Amino acid sequence: MSATSILFSAIAIMLLSNTLAAKSSASGGVKPKVTNFILEACKNASMKNQIYDPNPITHEFCVSTLKLDNRSAEAKDIHSLVHVAIDILKGQVATANDNVKQMLHGTKNGTATMRALSFCMVDYNRMVSILNICDTMIKEYHGRKGRADDGLMSSELPSCVEKVDKPFIDCWLGLLAMEAKKLLDENFAVGMLVKLNFCLASTI
Ligand SMILES: *[C@@H]1O[C@H](CO)[C@@H](O)[C@H](O)[C@H]1NC(C)=O
Ligand SMILES: *[C@@H]1O[C@H](CO)[C@@H](O)[C@H](O)[C@H]1NC(C)=O
Ligand SMILES: *[C@@H]1O[C@H](CO)[C@@H](O)[C@H](O)[C@H]1NC(C)=O
Repeated sequence: MSATSILFSAIAIMLLSNTLAAKSSASGGVKPKVTNFILEACKNASMKNQIYDPNPITHEFCVSTLKLDNRSAEAKDIHSLVHVAIDILKGQVATANDNVKQMLHGTKNGTATMRALSFCMVDYNRMVSILNICDTMIKEYHGRKGRADDGLMSSELPSCVEKVDKPFIDCWLGLLAMEAKKLLDENFAVGMLVKLNFCLASTI
């Protein structure tokens, strides 16, 4: 079983949080545009779900997530959309990590909870480091445009995104053991965005 399939089945036993829904209503009055390119990219991405995934990336989830960042409306290629999606994911990781950090402050030193939270922070930081590498790949892709060796190999970007599975699952298991509902909800929201990034990148 690959890390991704563990991720997909792991998410099965979690409940959908309202973290993302709350976020999308807070986009500040200006109604973000949804372009035909976004609609088409999301249609393609939602076809990349694993068959056994109980919380698949729907067309609606994809569109409403990309709408959170107005730069998605400018995207003319799928790499630019993945770049925006990576930023949205990094934002959610930062939110989740902040709350882990906060809970750590109120946790007694030397306890199992304290250790699990500390590892979780390391895991989230590692996710961001990996995502920064994926983002650099996108920038290089755009830099190389028009040359003979144009572009990434189609599997490179999704396999970069897939590398965040391991730290994601490590943190999830730690949080699961301490039954921290809020932190688990935020972790779930992170997981959905990981899947969205993976599905989008897989359409390349
Ligand atoms: C969606 O998939 C179709 C068929 O593979 C492809 O021609 C099209 O370019 C894709 N669109 C986007 C936005 O990736
Ligand atoms: C996106 O929104 C921000 C404010 O939230 C604004 O400063 C920026 O100019 C907008 N960009 C585009 C491309 O509309
Ligand atoms: C926990 O205790 C160790 C020594 O036992 C100390 O080095 C560390 O700074 C403490 N951490 C916190 C957050 O108090």
